[in-house]
Amino acid sequence: MKIIMLGAPGAGKGTQAKMIADKYSIPHISTGDIFRANIKNGTELGKKAKEYMDKGLLVPDELTVDLVIDRVAQDDCANGYVLDGFPRTIPQAESLDKALTERNEKIDYAINVEVPDENIINRMSGRRACLSCGATYHIVHIPTKVEGICDRCGAELVLRDDDKPETVKNRLDVYHDQTQPLIEYYSNKGALVEVDGTKEMSEVFADIVNILGA
Ligand code: AP5
Ligand code: MG
Repeated sequence: MKIIMLGAPGAGKGTQAKMIADKYSIPHISTGDIFRANIKNGTELGKKAKEYMDKGLLVPDELTVDLVIDRVAQDDCANGYVLDGFPRTIPQAESLDKALTERNEKIDYAINVEVPDENIINRMSGRRACLSCGATYHIVHIPTKVEGICDRCGAELVLRDDDKPETVKNRLDVYHDQTQPLIEYYSNKGALVEVDGTKEMSEVFADIVNILGA
């Protein structure tokens, strides 16, 4: 099962993608997580990506597309995967389609997690992220057992650099401008499914499982 998560920054793509990956035993591939791991490790890619991410801008396609296309060609992706944060532009989607078509493959579902802009800013300011294992929490909606410490791996949680309100606003503008057109793109391909992302996290997941099958 090959799945793409669509939705605004903070819609809950990462939260749902992790649950999908666990339930269906497929890899969760998040370009944001890959870039953040590179930033943490001080790689060249990380240095370049940080310049864009801190401003709420998209990392250029030439740093992003090959990375994902190589990743989905690896053996652990043979039974499918859930892509979170990619594609984010029409050219990225076209490059992915081209690579998949060459292997006689296609995206089965593009899941659009719908959340209005008003809810987004609140979610982002309350989000706490674990840069060690990728887990995500919310200080009100999804609290950890011990404040500031990851339930899963025990590392210290951080507020992401790009979760400051002014950067979140830029990310939303970029989303509406460059990423939202993908909804129509995948609708035209018959792959689009939509879920209401304002519901409780477990209810959103139940709606997704209903669509994907148990
Ligand atoms: P990325 O890491 O992908 O960030 P994003 O798309 O902005 O999305 P987020 O990770 O912020 O949100 P999410 O939808 O995953 O929500 P989450 O589940 O955490 O990208 C970061 C940057 O990297 C980009 O800005 C760009 O610069 C660059 N980049 C990445 N991919 C790229 C690409 N393909 N091309 C170019 N550049 C790229 O949830 C949010 C919060 O809400 C959490 O606190 C969570 O606990 C909480 N929450 C989740 N679900 C619920 C719920 N149902 N109810 C209440 N709270 C909830
Ligand atoms: Mg995410």
